Amino acid sequence: MAQKNNTQEIIRKEKEYVLSTYPRLPFVLTRGKGSFLFDSEGNQYLDFGAGIAVNALGHCDEEVVNAIQQQAQTLSHVSNLYYTAPHVELAEKLCQLSFADKVFFSNSGTEAIEASLKFARKYGRAKFGEGKTKLVAFSNGFHGRTFGALSITAREKYQAPFKPLVPDVEIVPFNDIVAAQQAIDDSTCAVVVEVVQGEGGVNLADQEFLQALRTSCTQHDALLIVDEIQTGFGRTGKLWAHQHFDIQPDMMTLAKALGGGLPVGATLMTNDVAEPIVAGDHGSTFGGGPIAASAALVILQRTQDPGMLAHVQKMSTYLCRELNALNLPQVVGIRSLGLMIGIELNVDAKPFYKKAHEYGILLLTAGPNVLRLLPPLTITKAEVDQFASAFKKLLMEKTV
Ligand SMILES: Cc1ncc(COP(=O)(O)O)c(C=O)c1O
Repeated sequence: MAQKNNTQEIIRKEKEYVLSTYPRLPFVLTRGKGSFLFDSEGNQYLDFGAGIAVNALGHCDEEVVNAIQQQAQTLSHVSNLYYTAPHVELAEKLCQLSFADKVFFSNSGTEAIEASLKFARKYGRAKFGEGKTKLVAFSNGFHGRTFGALSITAREKYQAPFKPLVPDVEIVPFNDIVAAQQAIDDSTCAVVVEVVQGEGGVNLADQEFLQALRTSCTQHDALLIVDEIQTGFGRTGKLWAHQHFDIQPDMMTLAKALGGGLPVGATLMTNDVAEPIVAGDHGSTFGGGPIAASAALVILQRTQDPGMLAHVQKMSTYLCRELNALNLPQVVGIRSLGLMIGIELNVDAKPFYKKAHEYGILLLTAGPNVLRLLPPLTITKAEVDQFASAFKKLLMEKTV
């Protein structure tokens, strides 16, 4: 009973003191281990949201915890006025494992995007003169909440209260090659795309669409920026999701899984993009700090491992097969790339999201009628079975 009171007290105080920008589920999480979370009343949840694609190695992975502890008791923060080793090693490894030559570190996804937009504008101006400022992005995309990122996130609900936004943005229907070719012209400095739209519904880009974007960008000296904030670090069964589509970006934004639960973002670019950027053009007090970078080194090492990537593919196939076998009447389609899975329903998805915890599982939505699954990449077959059985009961729930 004491614990229950404590739970209610935390919820009451949260409502009193924390600005209400999130509709939270009604329990207080206190502990996590592997694929499971535990609340203040001892309930256990199988976590198929993984902190919205952050906990790629599950909760409290031993190697990540050790890296954080070691670094925290050695050197935690000095600012970017000084050289430190962890972020240098991380940048080197990120470049070795991608198309990129240089990395800028920040603290979140939206900041990684913000940096990419500033670098693209500077690149356009420095290399091609005034007027090369247009940013092209896509319907149902999601890139973050700060002004630049919000301006290329074409959702009325998110944008309307905060207008006017950053100018010179054109939004094109996702996967519409002709519209994209028309929008990308000599005034375009960058095109920003998620190769699998996460928040927008787990929508996969067509290979021809992405290749057409690459061609148009090259023709018009525009930069192709892939937003891999949700799809990066093995989530889709390859280290980077764009590797499924045989395209080479000019920039890539990363965050979420990168820090193993600590806040860190990264904007990766080629030397050509980096060339006009000089000291003072952009900055961050915390960006790429030693603790976050030390955790990220573990994440990168573990998620680039071919064994881990094969496991993701195997679990994806197994999970999708199990979900299909449930033959649930509300399910009209399942879209997936690796362990990024969208279950499209013929009804509102929100009530199932809200009730799932009562069945011992946590999941996400992506748009009004899609349930989104982003389990830890380390998920086991037994955990998939446990999830599928609870999911079936959830969808048979009469009161939803
Ligand atoms: C594709 C993508 N870009 C950007 C962001 C924004 O990242 P953050 O919430 O870390 O600012 C998100 C977050 O969901 C995302 O999924």
